[in-house]
Amino acid sequence: MYQSKIAGLGKYLPDRIVTNDDLSKVMETSDEWIQERTGIKERRYAKKHEETTTTMAAKASTIAIDRAGITKEDVDFIIFATLSPDYYFPGCGVLLQRELGITKTEIGALDIRNQCSGFIYALSIADQYIKSGMYKNILVVGSEMHSMGLDFSTRGRAVTVIFGDGAGAAIVQRTDNKDQGILSTKLHSDGTYAEKLAFLAPGSHGGYHNDQLEEPVDYGFDKSIDYGEIFFTEKMLNEGKYYPRMEGQFVFKLAVTKFPEVIGEVLEDAKLETSDINMLIPHQANLRIASFVQKRLGLGDDQVFNNIQKYGNTTAASIPIAFCEAWEEGKIKEGDLVCLAAFGSGFTWGAALLRF
Ligand code: ACO
Repeated sequence: MYQSKIAGLGKYLPDRIVTNDDLSKVMETSDEWIQERTGIKERRYAKKHEETTTTMAAKASTIAIDRAGITKEDVDFIIFATLSPDYYFPGCGVLLQRELGITKTEIGALDIRNQCSGFIYALSIADQYIKSGMYKNILVVGSEMHSMGLDFSTRGRAVTVIFGDGAGAAIVQRTDNKDQGILSTKLHSDGTYAEKLAFLAPGSHGGYHNDQLEEPVDYGFDKSIDYGEIFFTEKMLNEGKYYPRMEGQFVFKLAVTKFPEVIGEVLEDAKLETSDINMLIPHQANLRIASFVQKRLGLGDDQVFNNIQKYGNTTAASIPIAFCEAWEEGKIKEGDLVCLAAFGSGFTWGAALLRF
């Protein structure tokens, strides 16, 4: 069996910085509230009509490919994690393939819908494909453009202030070196509380959108609007149903339990201890969650990497962005034991332990 290593990392953050004070101009919030509750000082927003989830992913991917010392033609599979895709379908995997100009090789492209833990799920899948011998160089990407779908009124403030845009990418590569690479991945989910952190509409709960096929259902349609094309109802618009919803405290309580649990699982699997970890990169959900986890595990400040202060929560992109930044800053060196861990909507959670 082969081993899979991280051969290259890349990240892309849009230029536009949006501070907490900028947000307080459009909604009732404050720099003090946001920093105290989340640790976030600013986040990045992509350029409207110029950048998309896919274009940001392509920039991060190009860097990861270069750093891996391969060419785009060497990539033999793409795994793309996002909750904010360019289109409802097709997914961003094929769009990234097109954006990178690697359609000639007709490699497969897979989309992952696991929100905050999307990158860990993607990495775990890549690891299995490499270990089985199926692929040699897999491009694993997390990219999000949250700014396109947030409620910028006071109604949405508890969610909107948390999220930012950006992309991170990794080349997961086959190696024969048994002392290097991914040692263990563990994935979990529990759909019991799916709606506690979710984006609900439009969706199949709405039923058929054709009165001839079914007894008409009252969606609150305004007949003057052609909803057949835009798929939204006025009721949905008025009620802000098409924005993400989150029961923050519920998420918080579960997250601080599941993070340490799953980190413990990968360590046990690899027969290693918490003290062996050189760098923990938690999903950048909230600085308070990360601090809680750090304390619970008894890790020092130099063993945990956070950059949510600058970028906010970039969901599936947060781990590869942080991983890449920690490496760029020289905080991760060859041979270091790195632990990546995430918890998020679904709920889904997971961890990956690797020897860099
Ligand atoms: N600015 C000012 N006031 C606000 C804001 C805001 N942006 N948002 C909410 N408030 C107000 C509320 O309206 C409420 O006011 P009230 O007491 O008058 O009703 C008050 O602040 C407290 O609201 P809570 O929602 O109880 O605030 P809480 O202290 O729980 O903080 C937060 C909210 C930051 C979301 C917190 O629950 C949390 O950290 N949750 C974890 C979830 C998380 O991190 N999610 C990230 C995405 S999911 C993931 O990646 C795992």
